[in-house]
Amino acid sequence: MAADAHASASGGVPGSLRPPFPPARSGYIVEVTTTPARPDVSPGTPLSLFVLGQGADPRSERGVECPGDLPPASDPALVERARRAKAALGDRLFVLGHHYQRDEVIQFADVTGDSFKLAREAAARPDAEFIVFCGVHFMAESADILTSADQRVILPDLAAGCSMADMARLSQVEDCWDTLTDAGVAGRTVPVTYMNSSADIKAFCGRHGGVVCTSSNAKSVLAWAFERGEKVLFLPDQHLGRNTAVREMGLDLADCVVFDPHRPNGGLTTEELQRATMILWKGHCSVHGRFTTQAVDDVRARVPGVQVLVHPECQHEVVLKADQVGSTEFIIKAVEKAPAGSKWAIGTDLNLVKRLAAAHPEQEIVFLEKHVCYCATMNRIDLPHLVWALENLAQGHVVNQIVVDDDTARYAREALQRMLDLPGETTKD
Ligand code: 13P
Ligand code: SF4
Repeated sequence: MAADAHASASGGVPGSLRPPFPPARSGYIVEVTTTPARPDVSPGTPLSLFVLGQGADPRSERGVECPGDLPPASDPALVERARRAKAALGDRLFVLGHHYQRDEVIQFADVTGDSFKLAREAAARPDAEFIVFCGVHFMAESADILTSADQRVILPDLAAGCSMADMARLSQVEDCWDTLTDAGVAGRTVPVTYMNSSADIKAFCGRHGGVVCTSSNAKSVLAWAFERGEKVLFLPDQHLGRNTAVREMGLDLADCVVFDPHRPNGGLTTEELQRATMILWKGHCSVHGRFTTQAVDDVRARVPGVQVLVHPECQHEVVLKADQVGSTEFIIKAVEKAPAGSKWAIGTDLNLVKRLAAAHPEQEIVFLEKHVCYCATMNRIDLPHLVWALENLAQGHVVNQIVVDDDTARYAREALQRMLDLPGETTKD
């Protein structure tokens, strides 16, 4: 973990690199801590994700505005500037890009992947001084947790949060655990959190014998959890939890209950909690939650022979109607190994679907919904922010560093490591 947040990066300004904007001041570093709370934000204050840039909330996924002058998006030299800054940084830099990133950004990624692959890639780069994470906040936090103290993880736009991760706050999860304790079931419950959660939720799981999962390994992680407890508290994505438990592990829908953090005792009776095998947190992805069963029916009628391929963050009814279900990496591999003439309707972020369609003109690839459906926060990482971050690094200014405090990182690492240590755990082919 990058513990020394305030040391600046070494290395001078290359002669050829003179950006026309003032270098960012040091000190624009986000320390991700669970305490102290911001005096102006009471715990659990409901703020909209889209009130971005209205101030920092270091306990949340919401992020803050860019602390420097961005190059204008209209600058025709942006691609060249990014190339030069990257070349100037050389081996000191490693750029990770999630599959939902824009084309303009993904072209600069040294590795692209789903959240599981990127976590492994971050951990496997001990020589990179700077890991620039083109993804969202919880991914950059995980990278910081899995890298060493002298490596710095940078998120080009701190407003790149995740609405799903924001649906589970530590105080809410602690209250939930108290409810489970009062119902006499906490001792028999293993908390499992999806990678798409803040570091303090991962740390909660680490402290309580729990584990992290991603969409590519949720089944094996749940199997691990059920070897250790009778019940699972699954955070924060109810759909991934339900889809994995019911579709992949043979549980019944009646074995699942939904814990609503906004209702007393989660809106559940003690008997319901005692009976349930899967206690699903009431959270969801605002992008994948939009795909409907109607869209599946429509595309089947429109495109004879189409195969519907969706991400497991989609609603259960949609997943049941799909032909194949898997993480972003799984989706890519399914298309890559399909023969020419295959027809796909894909239910995941549009940046990825458009890229797949462009890369495979020999196949017919359509977007599952008729409405445009990008992840707004993934899209926050654009070329101006990337250029701004890279040029500052090349000038010796570390900007937008993501630092998880030591105590949170220690327990979050335990939960992450339990996932990474699972036998055969690798991104699905
Ligand atoms: P994966 O990267 O695990 O496929 O998850 C998709 C996603 O929603 C990331 O935020
Ligand atoms: Fe979060 Fe969904 Fe966007 Fe992924 S796609 S970052 S889960 S809002």
